[in-house]
Amino acid sequence: MITDDKKEEIREAADIVEVVGDYVRLKRTGNNFVGLCPFHDEKTPSFNVTPKLGIYKCFGCDASGDIFSFVMEMEGVGFQEALRTLAERYGISLPEQQTDEHSEVHKEKEGIYHALRFAGLYFFRQLKESDEADIARTYLENRGYDGKIIKKFGLGYAPSEGSALLKAAESEGIKTDYLLKADLIKPSKRGDGFYDTFRDRLIFPIFNPSGKVIAFAGRVLGDKKTAKYINSAQTPVYNKSEVLYGVNFAKNEIRKDEEVILVEGYTDVITMMQQGIHNVVASSGTALTPQQVKILKRYGNKILMIYDSDAAGRKAMMRGMNIALAEGMDVDLLELPDNEDPDSFVKKYGKESFLELKKKEAVDFVSFSILQAEKHGEMDSPSDRTHVISRVLESIAEIPDPLGRQVYVQHLHQKTRKYRNSSDRELFDQLGVIIKEKQKKNRRKRSFFQSSPPVPPPGPSVGFEPIDRGSTEQSSPKPKKKPHYEMELLRLMIQYGKEMIQYVGQLCNDQLFEDEELRAFYQDVIQRFQDGEDISVEHYAHREPPYPKLIGGIMLEKYTASERHGEKTGTQFRRDKDPFRSAKSTIKPLRLYFLKRYLANLAEQTKTADPDEKRQLIKKQKRTQSEISHMEKTPADELFPDPDGVSENSGYTPKKFEYKMKNERND
Ligand code: CTP
Ligand code: MN
Repeated sequence: MITDDKKEEIREAADIVEVVGDYVRLKRTGNNFVGLCPFHDEKTPSFNVTPKLGIYKCFGCDASGDIFSFVMEMEGVGFQEALRTLAERYGISLPEQQTDEHSEVHKEKEGIYHALRFAGLYFFRQLKESDEADIARTYLENRGYDGKIIKKFGLGYAPSEGSALLKAAESEGIKTDYLLKADLIKPSKRGDGFYDTFRDRLIFPIFNPSGKVIAFAGRVLGDKKTAKYINSAQTPVYNKSEVLYGVNFAKNEIRKDEEVILVEGYTDVITMMQQGIHNVVASSGTALTPQQVKILKRYGNKILMIYDSDAAGRKAMMRGMNIALAEGMDVDLLELPDNEDPDSFVKKYGKESFLELKKKEAVDFVSFSILQAEKHGEMDSPSDRTHVISRVLESIAEIPDPLGRQVYVQHLHQKTRKYRNSSDRELFDQLGVIIKEKQKKNRRKRSFFQSSPPVPPPGPSVGFEPIDRGSTEQSSPKPKKKPHYEMELLRLMIQYGKEMIQYVGQLCNDQLFEDEELRAFYQDVIQRFQDGEDISVEHYAHREPPYPKLIGGIMLEKYTASERHGEKTGTQFRRDKDPFRSAKSTIKPLRLYFLKRYLANLAEQTKTADPDEKRQLIKKQKRTQSEISHMEKTPADELFPDPDGVSENSGYTPKKFEYKMKNERND
């Protein structure tokens, strides 16, 4: 085990501003740094780093911790692994192989990682040094890959001899068992001994988000009649459906651009990165999965899909598109000229042409679907057209956010006007039918799982990974009553305007809202605020449904949260005597109820988690619980800063900095 001394040595050497700076653009304000929180969506910075204390804290979502927890959360790794990452970065030597004695799972994984690390280096060295690898070196050279890019991606060569890797590993004392579990060797069919999984192939290591080798892909060299690629099988450290090739290199750029480009192949990723386009990943060998999209959502909300421009590629694109939509991503698509893939296009024409093409030709999924249909003669006959329009509506129905659906139905209406001579009403009606059908199907599915209650909406705060969201509209047959504090907060924002919106915006985020419609309303207010557009009762009274109905309810919201409270305790409150005070006492229940939903969700997840995950989940539950208790016993007025304290230019320094160093915590 790593000693506390080592840990403190690492803490001493590591620079929290630098480490956080990989993920967040930080700006100095006095002794602190602020930036956009990496743990939740926000447009105004409420994420603070205090180098003197070695900690970070977000006032929007309550994420907080030290450099170790930051790496753990950002890279999705355990504590030991976070230590190792930082130690390597800051040149601190660690005892070789430390394993968590308490956990067999952990030990097995460490052994597998070790075997994979060894194999990666072995293949890499073979590519550089062995005579046999000549063909591989020439191949890479012909594709225009130089030493720099080969090193970056750790490309390698697996010798043709049956068990070259096995022998090399054995002489390093690596256990056969771990090689087997890493799928680097397989038992011989004759029953005597083992042979290498990868032989005479170009090797592409596959990395996890923190850059650890977790698997390999081997590409055939020359024109042998065999599978073009072979990939590692599923192993305890490699789950195909959760892996994105290139994500370790792309993640920071995705955050910066708020957009990820999804391509099909390993070589597409490598070539694009070589040419200076860094926000690229590949789903590599599988159809895009919801888990992959969830990972991408950690880094950015918008996805641009580029598939090969053949029928198979188009089909894969449509399927992937619906999956990304269902996860709440913004989906754009781009078709390349005939017979090009991203690799060949970028190589031929370069980065600028690619960016130009992207700017001109990338379109949202509705436009793309209609354009493709037109191009392939599917809009010529009325019955084909009906079919295409239903298909697009099916895609729109995947979008979880009702306002998002509405926008795209209107868009579809515009795009297909010339084919239909009716209003958008019929499209909305048809969408309604599709959604009803989907709900029915889901209900049927759910009745098999009666024991598990619906999952609350996702959220940031103490735990940061996205939680599965059971779509609220699907899980409740009749709409739930809208929480009064969510209505109240919107009322305050609309009634008191700019300053209030800015204040609330810095302390809240849309994820805190339980009600879907109100969440979308909140997003809309914030968006309009940022765009400098009118935010008034009149505006919302004349917007598309459901705004008029909602604004009515919001402005009629009878009691403020403080008045409700006052009623119970016998205190008298005059409505909005101090609007910011009203806001504070409204934000408190908003956050509290969010944390409670989050806690329930963690408890639910814990039931089915494996031991490793369970430990993490329980830790999070404890943290969340203590946060809830803290909130419950602290008056709203003290929980949040006063408005001038958070204004942009005052460089707000938190007065009440609730934080315990990791080693003082009891969880
Ligand atoms: N793929 C696979 N198994 C195969 C063929 C393809 O896993 N037998 C996956 C690989 O992830 C590959 C991607 O599908 O990268 C795209 O396939 P393809 O375009 O054929 O390969 P490229 O990687 O683009 O290779 P190249 O540029 O050399 O054709
Ligand atoms: Mn290809």
